[in-house]
Amino acid sequence: MNYRDFIEQTTNFPTKEFRVIDNELYFHDVRVLDVVEKYGTPLKMSYLPKISENIKKAGILFELAFKKNAYPGSYIYCYCTKSSHFKFVLESALKAGAHIETSSSFDIPLIRRLYENESLSKEIYIICNGFKQALYKQYIIELINEGFSNCIPVLDNMNEVHAYESGCNEAYPIGIRVAVDEPPGFAFYTSRLGIRYSDILNYYQNHLKPNTRSILKILHFFVSTGIHDTLYFWQEFNKFVELYCELRKECDSLTILDLGGGLPIKTSLNFEFDYEGIISQLVRTIKDICSSNHVPAPDIFTEFGSFTVGESGAILYSILENKLQNDKEIWYMIDGSFITQLPDSWSQNRKFILLPLNLWKGEYHRVNLGGLTCDSMDYYNTDIYAQDIYLPKIKTGESMIIGFFHTGAYQESLGGYGGIQHCLIPSPKHVLISKDAKGTIAMELFRDQEGPDTMLDILGYH
Ligand SMILES: Cc1ncc(COP(=O)(O)O)c(C=O)c1O
Repeated sequence: MNYRDFIEQTTNFPTKEFRVIDNELYFHDVRVLDVVEKYGTPLKMSYLPKISENIKKAGILFELAFKKNAYPGSYIYCYCTKSSHFKFVLESALKAGAHIETSSSFDIPLIRRLYENESLSKEIYIICNGFKQALYKQYIIELINEGFSNCIPVLDNMNEVHAYESGCNEAYPIGIRVAVDEPPGFAFYTSRLGIRYSDILNYYQNHLKPNTRSILKILHFFVSTGIHDTLYFWQEFNKFVELYCELRKECDSLTILDLGGGLPIKTSLNFEFDYEGIISQLVRTIKDICSSNHVPAPDIFTEFGSFTVGESGAILYSILENKLQNDKEIWYMIDGSFITQLPDSWSQNRKFILLPLNLWKGEYHRVNLGGLTCDSMDYYNTDIYAQDIYLPKIKTGESMIIGFFHTGAYQESLGGYGGIQHCLIPSPKHVLISKDAKGTIAMELFRDQEGPDTMLDILGYH
């Protein structure tokens, strides 16, 4: 059996995103080797059309769920900037109609820059999450005072509001984040983020309502395990919607339920997730709980990060060397590093879709992939569903390129981008792929591979 037969028999390959023509891999409509032949490896690749595709997909799924459940509210898609702060990501998301969720002070200058470039208007929703230090609060107040009317700080604790009370010139909108209980087996019972369930109603009645000019608009919730069809998720979710109803009975301005992020992405060729079913169940649950409490159904906001940008990214490596280190452990050494370039793979044990770009008709065998740093954790050797990974054998004179796909979220936020990293492994080249209205693909070099000068400079070797 050759590698292609093996993949076709053990996974759902070919998929909507991946297919093979003449034993070469295509990612969407891109022959991935074209990118490598033009720019070389190691190489980060961002396939921009996927960003707008997923934003539109979420909009359609909520619209379907609203129709199916005769839901009276509306849906707003916010992009969680921390999953990838690049301008090309934000611009693609904004063009596709996304609003924004922020998590720290430097997000705000980034929003100002997009405003100066006319990529967004003052009416856009800016949902400001996170524990806020003085600068972040100051930046939020400045936006509100300058007329960004839908810039809404979400209170992470009960003291945060004092800054807005003294800083905002007029009445101002706010949200409250609910501290969810963590899943069974986690290191803590309750998230450190947000305000306790049991404090929220009292806090609103006794402090916010009588003493501030704040207008409570949003109740916010985020389960760090993401949106999954588990008992834990639905228990937390139901509790959250019940709390919304209790609060809504006291507060007419409260009209938005923010479900946070956590919509999963495809991290394996065998991935299956009933997006339509789960979104419909979310909407139906909100409607049912609200109507049994005689409370109007809220508008629904989400803050999808991974779902927006994860499936747009890929990283491509050449196999530099094929090492047999004992009787059965074969190492394929890549021209990059998991430690620095795919940090989720070792720090969070996350997996990505791994496929070769060529040699599909060759025999295959079990391999370990090794990175260039000296760290013993710089390896990758399991799939999400399998204990082993398999790649084509490389005969003398052949060379192989591999790709990790759907790597577009969080890898730069966690691993950094440029600068000083383990063993001074440089950040790879980064190429953007776009598609015009006629379907013509264009490639553009966003950033060249990092050179020694920037590193030496940071290290003080001026
Ligand atoms: C408050 C909040 N919203 C949204 C997100 C985005 O989550 P995801 O990337 O899983 O969609 C996060 C991620 O940590 C978050 O903390």
